[in-house]
Amino acid sequence: MPEVPHDVKDMGLAARGKLKIELIEKRMPVLASIRERFEKEQPLAGKRLSACLHVTTETANLVRCLKAGGADVVLCASNPLSTQDDTAAALVAEYGISVYAIKGEDNDTYYKHIKAAVAHHPHVTMDDGADVISVVHAEHPDQIGEILGGTEETTTGVIRLRAMEADGALQFPVVAVNEADTKHLFDNRYGTGQSTLDGIIRATNVLLAGMQVAVAGYGWCGRGVAMRAQGHGARVTVIEVDPLRALEAVMDGYDVMPIAEAARKCDLFVTATGDKHVIRGEHMEVMKDGAIICNTGHFNVEIDIPALEAMSTGRRTVRDFMEEFTLKNGRIIYLLAEGRLVNLSAAEGHPGQVMDMSFANQALAAEYIVKNAGQLENKVYIVPKDIDEHIAALKLETMGISIDKLTPEQEKYLASWQEGT
Ligand code: ADE
Repeated sequence: MPEVPHDVKDMGLAARGKLKIELIEKRMPVLASIRERFEKEQPLAGKRLSACLHVTTETANLVRCLKAGGADVVLCASNPLSTQDDTAAALVAEYGISVYAIKGEDNDTYYKHIKAAVAHHPHVTMDDGADVISVVHAEHPDQIGEILGGTEETTTGVIRLRAMEADGALQFPVVAVNEADTKHLFDNRYGTGQSTLDGIIRATNVLLAGMQVAVAGYGWCGRGVAMRAQGHGARVTVIEVDPLRALEAVMDGYDVMPIAEAARKCDLFVTATGDKHVIRGEHMEVMKDGAIICNTGHFNVEIDIPALEAMSTGRRTVRDFMEEFTLKNGRIIYLLAEGRLVNLSAAEGHPGQVMDMSFANQALAAEYIVKNAGQLENKVYIVPKDIDEHIAALKLETMGISIDKLTPEQEKYLASWQEGT
């Protein structure tokens, strides 16, 4: 394999990374079937693609699929703490893909890596958090004419992009992969649900049964975390600002209350809102001694960490990804994974079975952008319904599950308005 430009931690980790990438491939059959078709049809032939994603074994299988489809791919990290260094090394050494990602990289290195991906002069961008799109718009508007479109993986990125569209600032079309049902109903809910608890347990080794767990945000991610925490025997409180979601949480059986109240009551706090400073100084001030706080949203802004630092007299790392802060009031608070997404920092992110669908959407969205080059407006598009349904059908098939079909009589009934009781 000819060496490609890269910046990864240790190429000596490549063999271990390759084993893990191949292991997870078996759990991603929908993506594997797309890769097979891409190999034959070459829908991305000659296209440069810059992907800014969490560098995991699942992502490795996505970039292999894109490369099989003819794309010239460069991959950089979409978070400084989520990179799996063995996977990054394997992608370079075993699959010939340029990777710029090191777990624990500082902010300067993080942006240097994003700039390396932008310097690839992509025809297609692929983001998880809209960082490549932001850097292109802010610093390289000269490249916009070369870009056919982009894709976006996560809720936070879609929020940013919709704000750009509303401002008239978005300069090329973007497909919001997050909005596909086969993405958020599974990845956000079951993926975040399981991997967030996995990260918390790996970091702390606490027993969730009997704990009072507060989940801030009752979107698909928060729903997943609340559901799985309850499944572990935790007593779950939901914190929301949206009346409809709060009502849903109540009827799903959770306690719902303002964060100021939950702060005094709960033992473990998980933020999943996509907004900033959800847990603030005044909340940490009244938390119980030994409270644990963490975040599973995309950016590390949901917990006001500067406030926590200012109100503390000391801090030390007590386990990997677990920092102990001693407050001026004498109490202790534990912060996990520096307030970055705990599921990808302290654990390995969502398992392959759900990333299979998320990344099938990514691959097919990239193909859609190339196929429809020049015909899309500078807007945020949802994944076309036929692609979403195709992925759901393929997933069921690979799980060996068959379902019923409407009879002609049923189809006719649904299409008619004359038939009554
Ligand atoms: N986001 C959440 N989990 C992920 C994973 N395993 N790989 C890539 N992106 C992710």
